[in-house]
Amino acid sequence: EQIMKGNFDHFMKKEIHEQPDAIQQTMRGRVVFDADGNVQRVFLGGMVDYLSTIRRSRRIILCGCGTSYNSAIAVRQLMEELTELPVTLELASDVLDRQCPFFRDDSIIFISQSGETADTLRALEYAKSKGALCIGIVNVVGSAISRATDCGLHINAGAEIGVASTKAYTCQITSMVLLALALSEDSRSRADRRMDIMRGVVTLPDTMRRALELDQKMLALARTLVDENSLLLFGRGYNYATALEGALKVKEVALLHSEGILAGEMKHGPLALVDETLPLVVIATRDSSYLKQKSVIEQLRARDARCILIVSEDDDSLDKFASNEDMIIKVPEVCDCLQPLINIVPLQLLSYHLTVLRGHNVDQPRNLAKSVTVE
Ligand code: G6P
Repeated sequence: EQIMKGNFDHFMKKEIHEQPDAIQQTMRGRVVFDADGNVQRVFLGGMVDYLSTIRRSRRIILCGCGTSYNSAIAVRQLMEELTELPVTLELASDVLDRQCPFFRDDSIIFISQSGETADTLRALEYAKSKGALCIGIVNVVGSAISRATDCGLHINAGAEIGVASTKAYTCQITSMVLLALALSEDSRSRADRRMDIMRGVVTLPDTMRRALELDQKMLALARTLVDENSLLLFGRGYNYATALEGALKVKEVALLHSEGILAGEMKHGPLALVDETLPLVVIATRDSSYLKQKSVIEQLRARDARCILIVSEDDDSLDKFASNEDMIIKVPEVCDCLQPLINIVPLQLLSYHLTVLRGHNVDQPRNLAKSVTVE
């Protein structure tokens, strides 16, 4: 059943719409409830013997390629907050090129949908040779990376057929949020924060269903962007990853040049590109970066930029900055660190509709492969 398109024209669309159920599968048996149905704690069977080793490590390193790497960016801030350990990121191919200094007291998380990506597998073998603890966040059970890691979590997203990764991305983030929660379980001072996040996690499937209702809205937006040559996306904090992943989707399937930019870097170069023609997406949902993003929007509008805004559903204060009503996208709100899981949904839908309208192959973009098994 999982490898049929059902009522959908393309696997990518089907997989975008499967995300609420896929996330439910990621959480299944891992989020524990009390007798009254209140969320209590996170239990990760495959990790219990390793959590204390990770807590004692000198740092956590997140490693992967493509979308899997973007999922690492999305959880970095939360993992730092909950573990109080330095969390660094490595693109798998760069680990080998640089011969990264990895040590036996490092915990390294390898993230891969397929579990077969050559660069990630080589980086894992290298990390093992240095004696680091290797943890897998993998979708495909029995894959090379899931077999070679010391421990880990299967994301349980179900088969992903479309070359552009969608549900694996949101399930990878969910899995790593659960891991971060489990790692901080013994910290009393963070108990309230953990509870807020866990309550948010259990509402994710419903919140995501509401975000998927933006489908027709994103089709209308795609119609206005179909002939563009470039699209820039600005995000920061938890949603820097959303900008990068949104841009990756647009370029890999819609074959439209797109760049995700850390909004804090805007004045250090990208601002030179801004004029009244280039379309820009600014992610400005409510979190601790909100006021800074508002100021970015004001600066862009002062240059007559064409701004598409992704904002929280009850926030009307930014409406006046969008160039027209197609260009304001209102998303349901969740706990700040989970918001990237919701904000990516309209961008996945946008890239899907742009691809169809531009007449490109949705599930099999030119030159790309689902799993890159050569270096
Ligand atoms: C390829 C795919 C991407 C994917 C990346 C990493 O480039 O086209 O969609 O994100 O590989 O794949 P992995 O299976 O390791 O997550």
